Amino acid sequence: MAVIETQDLTKVYGKRDAAVHALRGVDFKVESGEFVAVIGPSGSGKSTLLHLLGGVDRPTGGSIKVENQELSKLSEKQLSLYRRRRIGFVFQYYNLVPVLTVEENIALPLMLDGLKPDQAWLDELLTRLNLTEKRNSLPNQLSGGQQQRTAMARALIHRPALVLADEPTGNLDSHNGREIMALLKDTVRRVGQTLVLITHDANIAAQADRIMIIEDGLIRPMQPVQQA
Ligand SMILES: Nc1ncnc2c1ncn2[C@@H]1O[C@H](COP(=O)(O)OP(=O)(O)OP(=O)(O)O)[C@@H](O)[C@H]1O
Ligand SMILES: [Mg+2]
Repeated sequence: MAVIETQDLTKVYGKRDAAVHALRGVDFKVESGEFVAVIGPSGSGKSTLLHLLGGVDRPTGGSIKVENQELSKLSEKQLSLYRRRRIGFVFQYYNLVPVLTVEENIALPLMLDGLKPDQAWLDELLTRLNLTEKRNSLPNQLSGGQQQRTAMARALIHRPALVLADEPTGNLDSHNGREIMALLKDTVRRVGQTLVLITHDANIAAQADRIMIIEDGLIRPMQPVQQA
């Protein structure tokens, strides 16, 4: 079953002379449980596509269905519930809340629903992401890589059906990058999640079930690179 299906999806930022056609008609399908890597040059529309899939922004035209629900038909309130409950989103620039600690940032999607995180799962995430000693720190007391790992934990804490990750290893050294990928692949398998991940790293893209190239606002499918 297709979890995500877009048809002729377009996104235009700005108006008239200043208009930027970030997506020019994207047809994109992701099956349940699939791991799809999205690659492509800077400015090609990768983050824009992920923001539309995650309900963070709305398209200019076309259709976007997640689990057969047309996102453009959702009210703002329904869209915010969709973001919080169905999606785990790792933003390219983290988007942590500056006045909340690491632990509070991670628990945020649940706290907004009046729920408490599963403590064992929270502890496991902190351990695996090498954040245990930083659990009471504020974001401005963290390195870029620690902020990125906090954003990853926040995306996984509620075990969402769909994980959308925008260059989640962009600021990490190879050890932490490998650990994040191992954790992601583990949870995806354990929870049965679908994963769409943007990366500039060919080694990470090669781990996906499928690679999609986005160029100048259009997507082209490609077979996974065979590893030697
Ligand atoms: N909020 C915005 N307002 C105006 N233009 C935007 C906005 N966000 C993105 N753009 C433009 O849309 C195009 C696609 O941007 P996008 O962020 O999707 O690229 P990207 O593929 O994620 O690039 P990168 O690899 O550098 O992160 C770019 O030309 C960018 O300048
Ligand atoms: Mg981007």
